[in-house]
Amino acid sequence: MLSLSTARETGSTFNNQEFNNPFKSLKYVLLYPTNFLKFKSTLAIFALTFISLLLFLVIISSNRYSIISFSRYDAIPRNITTFPTIFSDEKEEKTNISHILFGIGGSAKTWNDRRHYSELWWKPNVTRGFVWLDENPETTTSSESFMPYRVSGDTSDFKYSCSYGSRSAVRMARILKESFELGLENVRWFVMGDDDTVFFTENLVVVLGKYDHNQMYYVGGNSESVEQNVIHSYSMAYGGGGFAVSYPLAAELVRVLDSCINRYHKFFGSDQKVQGCLSEIGIPLTRELGFHQLDIRGHSYGLLAAHPVAPLVSLHHINHLEPLFPNQTRIDSLKRLIGAYEMDPGRILQQTVCYDLKRNWSISVSWGYTLQLYPSLVSAKDLTTAWLTFKTWRTWNLGPFTFNTRFFSQDPCKNPVFYFMDRVEKTGSDRTSTTYKKQALTTSDAHQCEHVDYAAALAIHSFNVSAPHFNPELWNKAPRRQCCEIINDGDTTEGGTPQLLIRGCNQYESVTPN
Ligand SMILES: *[C@@H]1O[C@H](CO)[C@@H](O)[C@H](O)[C@H]1NC(C)=O
Ligand SMILES: *[C@@H]1O[C@H](CO)[C@@H](O)[C@H](O)[C@H]1NC(C)=O
Ligand SMILES: *[C@@H]1O[C@H](CO)[C@@H](O)[C@H](O)[C@H]1NC(C)=O
Ligand SMILES: *[C@@H]1O[C@H](CO)[C@@H](O)[C@H](O)[C@H]1NC(C)=O
Ligand SMILES: *[C@@H]1O[C@H](CO)[C@@H](O)[C@H](O)[C@H]1NC(C)=O
Ligand SMILES: *[C@@H]1O[C@H](CO)[C@@H](O)[C@H](O)[C@H]1NC(C)=O
Repeated sequence: MLSLSTARETGSTFNNQEFNNPFKSLKYVLLYPTNFLKFKSTLAIFALTFISLLLFLVIISSNRYSIISFSRYDAIPRNITTFPTIFSDEKEEKTNISHILFGIGGSAKTWNDRRHYSELWWKPNVTRGFVWLDENPETTTSSESFMPYRVSGDTSDFKYSCSYGSRSAVRMARILKESFELGLENVRWFVMGDDDTVFFTENLVVVLGKYDHNQMYYVGGNSESVEQNVIHSYSMAYGGGGFAVSYPLAAELVRVLDSCINRYHKFFGSDQKVQGCLSEIGIPLTRELGFHQLDIRGHSYGLLAAHPVAPLVSLHHINHLEPLFPNQTRIDSLKRLIGAYEMDPGRILQQTVCYDLKRNWSISVSWGYTLQLYPSLVSAKDLTTAWLTFKTWRTWNLGPFTFNTRFFSQDPCKNPVFYFMDRVEKTGSDRTSTTYKKQALTTSDAHQCEHVDYAAALAIHSFNVSAPHFNPELWNKAPRRQCCEIINDGDTTEGGTPQLLIRGCNQYESVTPN
């Protein structure tokens, strides 16, 4: 799963691993001398091990460079003519948006309504791809600012026998093949999605850039609802969240896709049929946590306020969920979120937590979206666990989900005060300032905490958060939540605005509050 660019960052660490193993066996020898005789032989083994270890270390350190010289990151320039071909793409440009061909599943009937979702992310003359419709739409707006459409080929000869599904799954599954067969130039990835999928393309490019597009990759995410994964499969990327297939994999897939579609005629969805076919080729799913199928009911708030440390790639099922921001339409909510995303794509929804130890307050920020203020000390473990603001997709139950959740407390003093992003602006060339205003999550927050600490928290009407531009290179490193500092606690003025600063964490820095 490691791409070449990730190997670069971790190049020095795999030497350490070479050193670790001999020590492990040494420890084992030392720990288990059961009797004296055994001990003597153990001693001999020990001496032998020690000598070979020394030898090994000498060889390793003298060969330090030749060990890593099979990677292209060798510090010493040398003329090696027998490089394996995968290392020969030295000068190849980084993956960019032009290398992605989108294939969006739509239908003539719903396209007029759903088009608004793709308009949010489609960039004319930048993004490449088509929405695939079952027939020509009635109103053809041939404006260039919309995603162009294609009409899918006839699929009436294919088998489909899922009693609770729709035949259109066959047509959707073939979008990948039809996209491939357009034969467009310089395509590295085919990205599939629904007409109600919102892609965050800058982050999609960063995520796909981690993988070598010359190899066979299938990248995407699972459903959030365990029941869905149980019924449809854990091994597949859910189509609404979007998934990516590298060019060489697509090339193999199109050879067999039509026969797979017939073979997996019982499968409900197109994503499942495609995965059935990929499993015949032997390519497993590479999971990326930023793809969001959003197989949930209610409000996605809890999930998005405790997003995993991974770039946001997609959101789906928006029209089945409550609007992201209170008192806003779904589209306006998305526009607001995208406004922040455009200012700093890598930082959108990234969570940080910090404590005001003067007042024993806890603060959690989901950048560009929401902030929670707790007038108590809440563990980082709890702060990063999603509030249960939703139910499962199929049965509308309280779980289980593929991540942990926590219930709101009966005791209102344990629940946070909610703030939502109100505006974002650039401050300097590579910083942003975001403001979060107090706003109830739901209109029925009638039962309020009477405690004096809580009253002090309620008096805070807004927060200012300053952050540097998130360097996308960080996504090629080991993930770590960023740190947050209280610059000014806003205590000096009545209803003051606390100022927070988000930054990368220092070494040995943790939010452990003592
Ligand atoms: C590499 O090969 C080129 C031509 O074959 C030669 O000019 C150059 O000196 C060589 N470099 C090294 C470091 O051996
Ligand atoms: C993406 O890279 C290709 C080279 O593979 C280049 O021709 C193209 O201009 C780049 N596109 C963008 C938008 O940077
Ligand atoms: C897209 O490119 C075409 C041809 O280069 C140009 O005529 C058109 O104005 C561009 N459209 C937009 C929205 O930039
Ligand atoms: C909701 O929005 C409307 C208009 O956008 C505004 O008049 C109203 O005060 C808002 N309500 C709340 C509770 O913020
Ligand atoms: C904060 O909590 C600590 C430990 O629970 C306690 O000793 C301290 O008095 C508290 N401070 C305030 C201002 O409440
Ligand atoms: C919060 O940030 C905004 C935008 O940077 C700024 O105009 C405002 O003065 C700040 N508020 C406070 C209280 O510092």
